[in-house]
Amino acid sequence: MADYFNSNYPSVDALRIKAKERMPKFAFEYLDGGCFSEINLQRNTQEIRDVQLQPYYLRDYDSANMKTELFGETYDAPFGMSPIGLQGLMWPKSCEILAQASVDHNIPFVLSTVGTASIETVSDITDGKFWFQLYHPAENELRDKLLSRAWDAGCRTLVILADTPTFAYRPKEIKNGLSIPPRMTADNILQMCTHPTWSLSQLMSGSPEFKTMKSYIPKGLNMKHLAQFMDKNFSGRLTQDKIKALRDSWKGNLVIKGIVNPEEADIAVKLGLDGLIVSNHGGRQLDSGQSTIAALKTLQEYKGKIKIMMDGGLRSGADIANSLASGAEFTFLGRAPMYGVGALGSKGGDHTFTMLKQQLQQVMQQVACEQVQDFTNHLISE
Ligand SMILES: Cc1cc2nc3c(=O)[nH]c(=O)nc-3n(C[C@H](O)[C@H](O)[C@H](O)COP(=O)(O)O)c2cc1C
Repeated sequence: MADYFNSNYPSVDALRIKAKERMPKFAFEYLDGGCFSEINLQRNTQEIRDVQLQPYYLRDYDSANMKTELFGETYDAPFGMSPIGLQGLMWPKSCEILAQASVDHNIPFVLSTVGTASIETVSDITDGKFWFQLYHPAENELRDKLLSRAWDAGCRTLVILADTPTFAYRPKEIKNGLSIPPRMTADNILQMCTHPTWSLSQLMSGSPEFKTMKSYIPKGLNMKHLAQFMDKNFSGRLTQDKIKALRDSWKGNLVIKGIVNPEEADIAVKLGLDGLIVSNHGGRQLDSGQSTIAALKTLQEYKGKIKIMMDGGLRSGADIANSLASGAEFTFLGRAPMYGVGALGSKGGDHTFTMLKQQLQQVMQQVACEQVQDFTNHLISE
């Protein structure tokens, strides 16, 4: 059932604090951290909260309807789960937990190429109703294998990632040995020993692996060689030719993630893409980059030509409301549901999505907004 709510954790902040307690430091910092000085990470949330909404108290008002249509599907809320790599390292089975919670709440779940559940497992959990995010492989053969697996598993929305042309510089990951190549330091091992719930669940569910990629990875690689394998097999920088080839071969919806300026929104429209996600990888790549809400505001002229979605910095239903009011047609969250799982384990996804829906509903009722697409009428312009 999709309505679990634990009143001890009525905010993402409360979930984050609990998750920090329960997760080993290296795992929490991998989830929580950003690049360089974490300016972009903070700016994302800060600038969403600078948005102001106009309430109307004397208008006739029926009720809040959060249902949102996207690519021919009707979802129960205007938000979904962003793709997160290595989820199972942060909390055992978190990829599966969040896929299940997403399907229970009828919201989209986006599986990362480097997720810790396979395409087929997520397809089973979601009855084929999932999106797949592709890190573009260096070789077309691997690309085609991944795409046909996703298609055969029922996936009809493919998300291609634009914003990771290079490995990010994240000081906390470097210090914790989660850089490439990763290191199991004495400090990390101590962290695991002092977080027994995490360690026990990890033991019971087996160590996390890149399950979708597993069949292509030669057996017996140590972490250093695994990192080299991934580096060699994924090309990083996306090009228009690679996008064109995907557009020609993928029959479903094609979405590009990481668009933050009109020049590249224009390219996405010209290449015939169906959607774009305004995203800066959650402040994990370019510290001096714009917040996603600021970038979103520069792309309003593309509405109607391509679906405009966004993620980055959303931590509440009020943040979702502000993003919709600023012109997003759909939103995604990465860290917030992961904090939920870190705090509450298998119930964490359900709790977080229930809470976000409650919060969003409250804002809709407060400002007298009946449909999520009407939020733009409540934006107080700067
Ligand atoms: C720990 C972590 C791992 C991530 N891994 C991926 C990934 O594999 N693929 C991807 O497209 N984005 C990845 N992202 C970015 C998210 O999809 C999303 O853009 C970001 O988390 C949104 O910001 P938020 O966490 O503030 O909601 C990752 C983000 C985090 C925090």
